[in-house]
Amino acid sequence: MILGLVGDGIAGEIVPEAMKVLRAAEEAYGLDLEILGPYDFGAKYWIDHDMRQGWDPAVTEELFREVDGIFKGPVGLPDLLRRLPGPNLPINMRMDLDLYANIRPCRLRPGVDSVLVGRKPGDIDYIVVRENSEHMYVGIGGYLSRGGVTELAIDDYVQTRKGCERIIRKAFEMAKTGEYKGRVGAPLDGKRRVTCTAKWGICKGDDLFKDIYHEVAKDYPEIEQDTTWIDSWSYYAIMRPNFYDIAVMPNQYGDIMSDMSGAIQGSMGLAGSLNAGEDHCFAEPTHGSAPDIAGRMISNPTSMILSVGMMLNWIGDKHDDRRLKEAWRGIDSAVDRTLGAKKVRTPDLKGKNSTSEFGSAVAGEVRKGG
Ligand code: IPM
Ligand code: MG
Repeated sequence: MILGLVGDGIAGEIVPEAMKVLRAAEEAYGLDLEILGPYDFGAKYWIDHDMRQGWDPAVTEELFREVDGIFKGPVGLPDLLRRLPGPNLPINMRMDLDLYANIRPCRLRPGVDSVLVGRKPGDIDYIVVRENSEHMYVGIGGYLSRGGVTELAIDDYVQTRKGCERIIRKAFEMAKTGEYKGRVGAPLDGKRRVTCTAKWGICKGDDLFKDIYHEVAKDYPEIEQDTTWIDSWSYYAIMRPNFYDIAVMPNQYGDIMSDMSGAIQGSMGLAGSLNAGEDHCFAEPTHGSAPDIAGRMISNPTSMILSVGMMLNWIGDKHDDRRLKEAWRGIDSAVDRTLGAKKVRTPDLKGKNSTSEFGSAVAGEVRKGG
């Protein structure tokens, strides 16, 4: 059972395209995906329902735990920042369902130009493995107000042995299998490599992150080690993206570097992502709800399509279901074929086609299989 949620802004345009592709995958791979929804969900829903009702009553906390996977379009609108009710928001969902790994591939696909001059499809194929439950996002802190004036704000960054160990182990496991990548190893030399990046020597939590990286790395002698400060990594990822295979990093850095990676791979609209834990997962694009372009059907649905594909793969692993894993590979290659053909393209990739024309083209390729 899969739960679908729509979201805000362009979510209403890209989620239906992901649904088209899921339906095509059902046909092509003989699946019977029981999809609930997609339900309206997000800041707009909350406003439209007079801000009192919270989310659609069908979307309960219990349901979040019952389903095999969840997918969601981006949520949030600028005017409503800090005003949405607590449960079932992306950050809380990550915490509540303990989705400690945020998997954000950066791959330059056929037919797409990177912002980096001279890079060709296949030259860039790394994954940002973002720790998803600690660091700046723990919400520990507060305000000091005197005389009604907020004078001080404090945030605590937290990193734990458990938190560091599980994400770093996940990164090494991903380097081993090449899961979610176009190829195993780094494009430059084919070497499987896990880059650890943070700001050790300055932040204590990042010292711990690096120490634990070296401990965990001992269990993976076949995988090359690489460590770089996060500021340097932001430079190197641009100068030599082909050197990277898997880059593991604390939460906040992963948030920033995955947006930068959106540009590196040619468009934020191509940036799929998966939040994954041991028992639950939810798929959502790396980007936000893009209210500036919403309502014009010009958004690129690839990010949403790849996210739901990654979700199928994760569920396939959980239930040992080969067909679901094949469906992910089918979706992944259908996206490549559609982009590579350069016939149907959204405006972010200098095309003139609409969101739904592109989604239909990918669904058509999925149906062909392969
Ligand atoms: C992301 C987003 C979120 C984050 C926001 C919406 C809270 O930027 O998924 O990268 O900061 O993690
Ligand atoms: Mg972000």
